[in-house]
Amino acid sequence: MKAIEVNNLTKNFGKTKAVDDISFSAEEGKITAILGPNGSGKTTTIKSICNIIIPDGGSIKINGKSNIKSIDRIAALFEGTRNLYWRLTPIENLRYFAGIRGLGGKKIELKIDELMERFNLTDKKNTLVNNLSRGMQQKVAIAMTLVCDTDIIILDEPTLGLDVESCLDIKEVLKSISVDMKKTILLSTHDMHLVQDICDDVIIMAKGKIIAHDAMNNLLDMFRNMTYEFILNKSVTDECMKNLLETGYEFYFSNNNTVLEIDISDSQIIYNIIDLLRNNNLSIKEIKQSNINFERVYLNLTGGGVNK
Ligand SMILES: Nc1ncnc2c1ncn2[C@@H]1O[C@H](COP(=O)(O)OP(=O)(O)OP(=O)(O)O)[C@@H](O)[C@H]1O
Ligand SMILES: [Mg+2]
Repeated sequence: MKAIEVNNLTKNFGKTKAVDDISFSAEEGKITAILGPNGSGKTTTIKSICNIIIPDGGSIKINGKSNIKSIDRIAALFEGTRNLYWRLTPIENLRYFAGIRGLGGKKIELKIDELMERFNLTDKKNTLVNNLSRGMQQKVAIAMTLVCDTDIIILDEPTLGLDVESCLDIKEVLKSISVDMKKTILLSTHDMHLVQDICDDVIIMAKGKIIAHDAMNNLLDMFRNMTYEFILNKSVTDECMKNLLETGYEFYFSNNNTVLEIDISDSQIIYNIIDLLRNNNLSIKEIKQSNINFERVYLNLTGGGVNK
């Protein structure tokens, strides 16, 4: 079942084609990520779905109905830190947000308590948001999207500006929203770990277009057979590295430059690489197929340049 359906969405800002005739859908109950370099149209797409931006063309459906008619099925969180009232506590923020949507009373109070508990915020629920860490603030902001119990949660860069630990925390929070609360999540991000660890489907945008849309596992499989690791007996010197890179092959060096990885489309190329290493006096200890990570898939598809 399609929770969100976008057909031929187009939005221009003057001469900028922010979103250029894109179509995709996000499946009910899944986590779908939109990735892409800065300015590729992620936020414009998300804001169009939430009816905050009026598109120039195309249609958007939520659970089969026009997004304008079913906007109350979505709760969204946008980039930045202005999603909360800093002089209110988490509880007051959630209560206020529910109130805007005409909800209140005992049921909402219980819901707020449940969310505070779920996100490990119970001991901070009466502390002013201003005095919470950035990670905690983001958890409160995500909790706000859940207080009205909509089916679909849309998050624009939920881990932006957070440290590693807070990102892990948010990752757990999102997983719990998906698995335990059974919500559909559409999010945009630059966080490859978040995508690889929790997202089911991935949409990659570049310059307003969709360049890839597939299940996370399919994308990883597509590249898994292509990545080889050459473990060397000694570190590659700077000069040698320069020589290797000048050959036009895209090498990645790691482990103190003792491991060299390469993505190859044709297994015959392995022999060329072996020759190349031999010519550079590099002896090979082991060759193995590498565990592909999603960052590499992304780099392959977008032609490099992860924008953080
Ligand atoms: N309100 C606006 N007025 C003019 N141009 C805009 C506006 N909003 C977005 N754009 C332009 O549209 C393009 C897409 O922007 P958008 O914010 O959707 O990208 P994004 O993928 O979310 O980027 P980022 O990763 O930086 O958040 C960019 O070229 C941007 O400059
Ligand atoms: Mg954006």
